[in-house]
Amino acid sequence: MTVQSSPVSSRTDSGTRALRTLRLGVNIDHVATLRNARGGWHPDTLRAAHLAIEGGADGITAHLREDRRHISDQDITRLKNEITRPLNLEMAATDEMLEIALRHVPNACCLVPERREERTTEGGLDVVGSLKLLKPYVAKLKDAGIRVSLFIEPDLKTIEASAQAGADIVELHTGRYCHLALDHDAMGMAREVERHAKAAQAAYLAGLEVHAGHGLTYNTVAPIAKLPEVVELNIGHFLIGEAIFGGLSQAVRRMRVLMDEACLADTRARSAVTTS
Ligand code: PXP
Repeated sequence: MTVQSSPVSSRTDSGTRALRTLRLGVNIDHVATLRNARGGWHPDTLRAAHLAIEGGADGITAHLREDRRHISDQDITRLKNEITRPLNLEMAATDEMLEIALRHVPNACCLVPERREERTTEGGLDVVGSLKLLKPYVAKLKDAGIRVSLFIEPDLKTIEASAQAGADIVELHTGRYCHLALDHDAMGMAREVERHAKAAQAAYLAGLEVHAGHGLTYNTVAPIAKLPEVVELNIGHFLIGEAIFGGLSQAVRRMRVLMDEACLADTRARSAVTTS
């Protein structure tokens, strides 16, 4: 194992600390959730991806689920062909998903556990228990030039197993930390941040790139963003929800203008008829 120094101690030639950068992957699954509520194309995932990139996203993340409840195969094709930033494809370790990933060759694949009855990805991969199953998937994806990430709980044994599986990256599941925030459990949150800090350090020392995500919001992002080994956050549901609040009054205003213009045109047309 090559032991790397912690990125927090990296310094420039002049002795000052190098500015750390943290990538943001925007998960657009729930744009597709909204679209699928009606069918058709609106709201369009590709348009959402372009807007996310315009807003500063370094990459786009999309989870192609076995039941296709949000992202579709066509979404993946369009995103892969048309976005200007890396695509991170989240998927279960199954033969069907492997075939899709090898066909599209996204920048990265994040292997996640998947159960049909769950509302979202609950908990991380059991890498220790499924090491034998995961290894060939990781190897085939890597052979195709795809970076492989494993979505895991911040647990030291799981990190060790992730390195053994040959993964390039681990994404630490921040769901439990974010649930504690919803419960206003400050002590529990501090404990979870500490667990993530230790896990991030261990993963970095094991030669793994460290990402994190799930459930992050404006209120919970900073303690995770501060962890020096973490180089990427993947955030979705909260951002798509916030986009409603950022954009709803503007959308209503535009509809109001179109309606008022139509009424005015109608009134003018009627008065033209009566005066002629
Ligand atoms: N990372 C992974 C691996 C995920 O499965 C998800 C949810 O699809 C996220 C990040 C983003 O979580 P959220 O939508 O809660 O921000």
